Formats: sequence, C-alpha cells, structure tokens
Amino acid sequence: CTVAAVVVGWRLRSRMKWKRVVGVLRELEEACGTSVSRLRQVVDAMAVEMHAGLASEGGSKLKMLLTFVDKLPNGNEKGICYAIHLGGTNFRVLRVHLGGRRSGILRRDVERMPIPQHLMTSTSEDLFEFIASSLKQFVVGEEEKDSELSSVSRSELGFTFSFPVKQVSVSSGILIKWTKGFSIADMIGKDVSECLQQAMAKKGLNIHVAALVNDTVGTLAVGHYNDEDTVAAVIIGTGTNACYFERADAIIKCQGLLTTSGGMVVNMEWGNFWSSHLPRTQYDIDLDAESPNPNDQGFEKMISGMYLGDIVRRVLLRMSRESDIFGPSSSRLSTPFILRTPLMASMHQDDTPDLREVARVCNDVLGIPDVSLKARKLIVNICDIITRRAARLAAAGIVGILKKIGRDGSAGVAGSRTKAASSGGKLKRTVVAMEGGLYTNYTLFREYLEEAVAEILGEELAPFVTLKVVEDGSGLGAALLAASLSFISTDT
Ligand code: GLC
Repeated sequence: CTVAAVVVGWRLRSRMKWKRVVGVLRELEEACGTSVSRLRQVVDAMAVEMHAGLASEGGSKLKMLLTFVDKLPNGNEKGICYAIHLGGTNFRVLRVHLGGRRSGILRRDVERMPIPQHLMTSTSEDLFEFIASSLKQFVVGEEEKDSELSSVSRSELGFTFSFPVKQVSVSSGILIKWTKGFSIADMIGKDVSECLQQAMAKKGLNIHVAALVNDTVGTLAVGHYNDEDTVAAVIIGTGTNACYFERADAIIKCQGLLTTSGGMVVNMEWGNFWSSHLPRTQYDIDLDAESPNPNDQGFEKMISGMYLGDIVRRVLLRMSRESDIFGPSSSRLSTPFILRTPLMASMHQDDTPDLREVARVCNDVLGIPDVSLKARKLIVNICDIITRRAARLAAAGIVGILKKIGRDGSAGVAGSRTKAASSGGKLKRTVVAMEGGLYTNYTLFREYLEEAVAEILGEELAPFVTLKVVEDGSGLGAALLAASLSFISTDT
C-alpha cells in the first residue's frame, strides 16, 4: 500500500513537472510569435529606420554606412588579384584570375583557416601579424605554382573586413566597433587598411590594398557580376547584415555626393536594427545583458549563428531548473555558448524516428544522458521556435529593404500597399544575393525564410523577387572590386 502511494505520488509530481515544462514551451511560442501582420510592422520599421539612418549621422541605430563603391563589377574585369576575408570564424585567402567579358573567372585558389580564438581578443598587431603571415605563405605557394606571378612587381588586393567600418575612401576606413565576439580594444578608431598595409610591408610583401569592403558588399558585387538584377545582399552566418544600392540623392546626410553612377552601395549594419515590434523574450534580454556588447546588435542576437544555439540552451536550462525532465541538472547546460548553432541545427533536422542525434548531442555536449523520447521531441520543438523566428525576422528585414527602394510593389514608406501594376508602375525582377553559413547550410532556416518572404509579399509580388545564393561572395567580391577599381584593365 505504501509502495503504491509512493508510485502514485511520483507519477503525479512528474505529470505536474511536465505541465510546467509545457507551460514554459507555450510561453516561448507565444513570445516568439511572428504573424504576417507583425512581420509587416517589422518591414515598415526597417524602412523607416533606413530613411532615418540616411538622413543624419546617428539618426538611427542603423548606421547606413557609405562604402564609396559606386559601380558594381559587370564581368569586364581582367587581371590577377588577391583577396583576403576576415569574418566571423574563418580567415580566407584567395587568388583570382579574371578573364574579362568572354572568359569570366578563369581560376580561383582558396585557402581557409580558422582564426585562433586568442587572436580575437588580443592586440591589433598580433591579429595583423597572423593575417600577413598567412597571406605570405599563400602568395609564396602560388608563386611556386605559377612562375609568371613572381615577375609581377606589385599585386592588388581586395580586403573583406566583416565589421562596421566608417569608410574614408573605397580602400580605407576606420573600425567603429567590434561585433561577433571580437574585442581588440586598441584597434577601434584605427585605419584597417593601414594596419594591413604595415603588416604586409613587415613581411616584405609588395601588395597594395585596392579595396576595403564589408562582406555584404563583396556578396553584392559577385551577385551583380552574375546577375545584373541584383540590388541587395544579405549575410546570415556568424553575424548578420545587409547592403544595397542606393540613389545618391537619397543619402541626405551626405548632400552633394557625386558618384559616377548616381548611386552608391550602403552598408546598413542591420545587425544593430531595433524596433519595439521585434518579438523579444526574457532569454534574449538575458543573453544580451551577459554578452560583451549589451544593448548592441539586437537584431543580430535574435537571428545569427553566433547566438541561436545559446538561446536554445537558455530555454533548456530554465526547463531543467523547473523540472526533472532532463534528470539531475547538468552543469554543462549552464556554460554559455556550449550549444553551438550547427549542433542545434543537427538536432532540429534529426530525421531518425527515435531522434538519435538529439540524444547524442544531449549526452556528448550537454552532459544529459538517457533523455526520454518525449524530452527529445520537446528539444526539437524549441529549436524550431527559435529558428523559425530568426528566419522570419530576417525575411522581414529583406522586404524592408525592398520597400525602401520601391521593389515591394508599395508606394513607399508612407504610402499604402498599392500594387505597382495597378498604379501604372511596372514590377521589376529583383534579385537579392544571399550568403552565410546559417542560410546556406541550415535547410529549415532557409525554407522558413523563403516562405516568409513570399507570405509578406503576397502571391502577386513574390514571383518577382528571387533570393540567390552567392558562393564565396565575400572573398571573391573583394577581388572583383579590387580589379575594377585598380589599374587592372577592364574591357569596355
Ligand atoms: C556583423 C558585422 C557586419 C557583418 C556581419 C556579417 O554584423 O558587424 O559588418 O557584415 O556581421 O558577417
């Protein structure tokens, strides 16, 4: 009789705990809601903030940075160029041989290496020493393969630096702040190209930085090189950002801006976008407060690869504290960033009937053995909520850009959603170049994003908008821009 009472009591407690967990899940679901109407509010807010950021310096959390790139490569570029890309997790070096209109890209050699963790928080000298020596190693290897190269007296280089930079010219600019876990204090306010130029000189490299670009700008350059209807580029990887081609007269904060094309690429730094319409949860608030850059990069912290896994970890931690569904609480679950986004994606996309991958990650990474099938399903559900929200918010951001440049079929920020066709305007084919590991490798994320863009635009407009993956846009784009800007000949 006593044993029976104990069992009944245990079952009752266990049911109560599940009820609590389900309550936490429902609460999360509700707080992460991204109905189409809410997404449209985000679209409008994005377009409004873009206007504000273009109107005056500091007019918005969107910096809307000038890039001095006023024309995009069109396929006529010819010559050999180097490019390097310092982004979130990897460092890449490339050599690109461009053959002009008829031949396109003749050859591309790439070397990729992870950035040693300690360099992300070290000194600018250490970081650039690493960059210059990696570049030197690569250049020497290339010269050994191709003897013609060693006869070139000076080579041109495009430098993709994926952080917010206030450009002084197309080939130089000052670092405004670090994002994505980098934090090298002595670098802020310094000219990024100058740091590289000095480090290369120390290594005896006669290479000239012809272009300094953000990764979004490189991606737009390659997107446009491949398809001239490309008007914007979006990166969703470790961080997230977008750039687009803007009319010079719309860049009010820089009146009288003269460009050869009448426009210029603007680096939005949309990772820092903020709006009260964003569905923010306590997990986001805590993540932000505990990050090295609180109150900064709010949009990025809800969307990009650096953070998604950690949001999920925070939800799991709360559930494990409020119930015993994961057994005795694991200390690993309290370790920030232990659940990296690729692992979260592999749990989310686990298609085995017994969710074996979820069990493996729980055991090997989170230190939670023997998770029940019910609890594994719950984890998949949490991953789905967080990823779906991220993808749909990014989709709203994209439509926000289209709205700003009048490619969403509406009559502008203040105007109603009148269809361009009915107002006598003509809908133009519009391509957005997409890059970044989260978008390219995480199938469900990509599907959610594409679905949301179509939902927001509606049936009539959606077919005019194409999201196109650009491979290695960030690296290749810098080479293309360096080629189109330097002395390297272009066919006309
Ligand atoms: C961060 C950087 C931005 C970059 C983006 C994607 O948001 O601030 O410059 O484009 O990550 O890499």
